[in-house]
Amino acid sequence: MIICVCKAVGERAVREAIRSGARSVADLARATGASTDCGTCRDHLVELIAEELTPPASPPAAANPR
Ligand code: FES
Repeated sequence: MIICVCKAVGERAVREAIRSGARSVADLARATGASTDCGTCRDHLVELIAEELTPPASPPAAANPR
């Protein structure tokens, strides 16, 4: 799926950049070029950063049998 239409940057490239250390829209702009034209994709980039950096919810701890 294309995230940044202006620069033809796909979701996979954005996620890979985040996993490689990008932590802001500016980082993603440097790494992929996304958001460097019209800026419409910025909110989506912010969402992807939050999604990638949020640890998955862990299952509830098992009851401690005694
Ligand atoms: S859609 Fe990303 S800069 Fe225009």
